[in-house]
Amino acid sequence: MADGETRKAEADGSVGTATESLTVTDNRTGRTYELPIVDGTVRAMDLRQIKASDDDFGLMSYDPAYMNTASCRSSITFIDGDTGVLEYRGYPIEQLAERSTYLEVAYLLIHGELPTRDELDRWTHEITHHTYVHENVKVFMQGFRHDAHPMGMLLGTVGALSTFYPAAKAIQSPEERHMAAVRLIAKMPTIAAFSYRHNLGLPYIYPDNDLSYPGNFLSMLYKMTEVKYEPDPRLERALDVLWILHADHEQNCSTSAVRGVGSSEVDPYSAVAAGVAALYGPLHGGANEAVLRMLERIGSKENVPDFIKGVKNREERLMGFGHRVYKNYDPRAKIIKRHAEEVFEVTGVNPKLEIALELEKYALEDEYFVERKLYPNVDFYSGLIYEAMNLPKDMFTVMFAIPRTSGWMAQWLEMVQDSETKIARPRQVYTGERGRDYVPIDRR
Ligand code: CMC
Repeated sequence: MADGETRKAEADGSVGTATESLTVTDNRTGRTYELPIVDGTVRAMDLRQIKASDDDFGLMSYDPAYMNTASCRSSITFIDGDTGVLEYRGYPIEQLAERSTYLEVAYLLIHGELPTRDELDRWTHEITHHTYVHENVKVFMQGFRHDAHPMGMLLGTVGALSTFYPAAKAIQSPEERHMAAVRLIAKMPTIAAFSYRHNLGLPYIYPDNDLSYPGNFLSMLYKMTEVKYEPDPRLERALDVLWILHADHEQNCSTSAVRGVGSSEVDPYSAVAAGVAALYGPLHGGANEAVLRMLERIGSKENVPDFIKGVKNREERLMGFGHRVYKNYDPRAKIIKRHAEEVFEVTGVNPKLEIALELEKYALEDEYFVERKLYPNVDFYSGLIYEAMNLPKDMFTVMFAIPRTSGWMAQWLEMVQDSETKIARPRQVYTGERGRDYVPIDRR
């Protein structure tokens, strides 16, 4: 199995039985142990039996950043990072981006199967009729400072939703779980658009149920005095494709945050707020914003070689490049790059595209990047599209959070129903002092 590949389990998703094993010898004691190998993994808890003495706690694995630890069994998203493969529920991302819609993909992620026509109609109706937020959510958002970062507003407001839907605490109830998934997917664009309008000092625009999911979002962003906003179908489709590409990505930082926080059995709004917080960071969803700021700093194509030199001297990071799992071109970046051209037909070419293309060309030929298998990731081109749509940089990560909500909820639902779920509680290697006597402040 290649390094970046999601571990494949038994086809039916059940916990496999061990037919393979690992034999290890503890050189401290000379004792030998046989550890079962299931689905290409050994259980870290099986190490605990390995002890240097009777009162020894037992061996632990040490894995900061979970570089080599599978934290769950999942049947939602498959990635082969070495060859650049991404599948949702077994369907290649290229086919979904080409032929599906974001709402259909959200259904697929949540329910595990593509919907029939009736199921899709019901799902679309349900989502469309939950896009409104309680008026007090609006009032709550109006309390943010005029220049509050929209991602901070989203984070606070999603957390606040838990107080509007206290019944969601009943996480053992399939009906409550379903309602939380519907409400979160439906309301995320509304809250996102309100945060954008807030920054501009413009009145918030209520959802328009006649429009598609992305079309309604464009209306809530851009509607001014016209009676009815009519989204450009090309922008509507480009947004839909971007959202398909961002919908899920297995156990990344924000999804792990949702699962980790959710494992305490808190309500799903609070768990998803944790995901929004994790996504905010510049090494995760904040990278698309960082890419645009980087392109701005580079300024022109001519400055690219100097910038690359700085990256190699570790003065800078080439944002939008590299990935923990992909050691090949991120398949999402390939699709986005194609769609960028279609968006630019509507909006005119973003002049920073030239710098981005030059950066990519340089990096893909440079030994530093080749050796480390650093390729453009999903964030390298998405910001250029958002900017062409007139969105300020602060909004870019919000644009990622909207579609990732379906992935977070699919993963949360899977976790809640997994019989192996326990509260997430890693161990540590303690490196501090022990047994010190308290010293009064005037004697320190
Ligand atoms: N620019 C320059 N060098 C890099 C970069 C980069 N973007 N990414 C990795 N490297 C180097 C890194 O310095 C290290 O070199 P060395 O072994 O000589 O010390 C080597 O490549 C391995 O990198 P790493 O930091 O150990 O890799 P990681 O798996 O811990 O980090 C990453 C993955 C995505 C955080 C990192 O590649 C990065 O910071 N990229 C820029 C930020 C970015 O674009 N993030 C978006 C990720 S995709 C969307 C998402 O998940 O939200």
